[in-house]
Amino acid sequence: MKDCLNKLPEEIKDLIYLISDIACKDNTAVYLVGGFVRDLILGVKNLDLDIVVEGDGIGFAQKLAVEFNVKLVSHKRFGTATIMARPHLKIDISSARKEYYPQPAHLPVVSAGALKDDLYRRDFTVNAMAISIGVKDFGRLIDFFGGRRDLLNKKIRILHNISFIDDPTRILRAVRFEKRYNFNIEPKTLKALKESVRKNMLCKVEPQRLRDELILILKELHPLDQIKRAWKLTGLDFISSRLSAFDKKTCCLLERVEKEISWFKNNYHHRRHLDDWLVYFMCLTSSLSIDDVRASCEKFVFRAGEEKRVLIYKKIRTKFIFSLSKEKIKPSKIFASLEPLSYEVILLLKAKYANKFFQKHIEDFLEIYNGARISISGHDLHALGAVPGPDYKKIFSRVLNAKLDGSVKTREEELELVKKLLRTRIHTDKKTD
Ligand code: CTP
Repeated sequence: MKDCLNKLPEEIKDLIYLISDIACKDNTAVYLVGGFVRDLILGVKNLDLDIVVEGDGIGFAQKLAVEFNVKLVSHKRFGTATIMARPHLKIDISSARKEYYPQPAHLPVVSAGALKDDLYRRDFTVNAMAISIGVKDFGRLIDFFGGRRDLLNKKIRILHNISFIDDPTRILRAVRFEKRYNFNIEPKTLKALKESVRKNMLCKVEPQRLRDELILILKELHPLDQIKRAWKLTGLDFISSRLSAFDKKTCCLLERVEKEISWFKNNYHHRRHLDDWLVYFMCLTSSLSIDDVRASCEKFVFRAGEEKRVLIYKKIRTKFIFSLSKEKIKPSKIFASLEPLSYEVILLLKAKYANKFFQKHIEDFLEIYNGARISISGHDLHALGAVPGPDYKKIFSRVLNAKLDGSVKTREEELELVKKLLRTRIHTDKKTD
């Protein structure tokens, strides 16, 4: 594999040679493993180096951290550590280990092992290969379980029969890799996967681990095939037992969501980061009641901001959609309706409701109103005699609305409006005195 390593982008190649030198000085056997090796053989870009050390992984990681002058995050219990060698280049380092599952679906007990043990504990043959980066045999592929053959034949294959029982999150991983690379889960593996589903193993896994794997699926470049396959194979019961079976309606909505996300990314990616996975999640759970969705968010320990966006979507009433589906609506009204919503919610609504005026109002909101700015500042208000405090916000909002609706255009007109608002304000204040 030396040729393949030498063809990598300079930055990664140099990093690997540097790690190799450090390993040589340290007299330590070091290997590239897992997804990095898989993607190297497939010729797919991968910026996450996964390294296994036969010996003290954390100790070796500490040496790398000193060399690269970066911080190290380590997990002593698993003998693993992570460093960001460059802002976009992550290195996961671990000690070669054996694993054994005292209880199915729970975390394994780990102990030191040889490279072969470490590869044998992995999910699929295609992820269970290693490349030595030792100076003497730099680039040697180590493939005990036929991973390379399976890569060439486009097969996802487990290493032993109870792999999905030991670690049911592999069910979701099998689907993710199968669809990402357009592979097939080979028959015996599919049988074992279905057996694990039949035994309801997914529901025995700690929900946060399932959440992480689900999010990885939803974050794939084109997650639709993965979602459909996972839904058909597992029913996605682990999200909620009340989730309906895979149906055409949700499938169509998912397809429209994918289109809207790509439309947004083509046009507005610079505006704000979009959590596309959350849009898919909201779509998947759209048939559930608000209480059931809340229960799922709590079970998955979503972050407050994530849960909030999901629940806001569930609270949107038909009346709201109806009010935005009329042809003529003042821009300030469109702004007031959509501005409090997240982009995730807005995109899902756009995917769900086809009314042409509703669509147009959302497009105008994103294109024009949401970027609209007024020219006046707090200094101007102060100079005109406004008292700092809540009134500032109200005045700014009135001026922005007037600007959106076209009744003020220039800075002078904005200032005139402020003066008028302040006069009316003083007048009303006097009346109430
Ligand atoms: N792994 C495993 N079982 C799991 C999770 C991970 O055996 N449940 C192993 C696999 O060998 C995998 C490696 O740990 O290749 C690293 O895991 P991860 O980073 O999740 O996967 P990648 O294969 O790197 O996939 P991706 O390209 O999506 O990052």
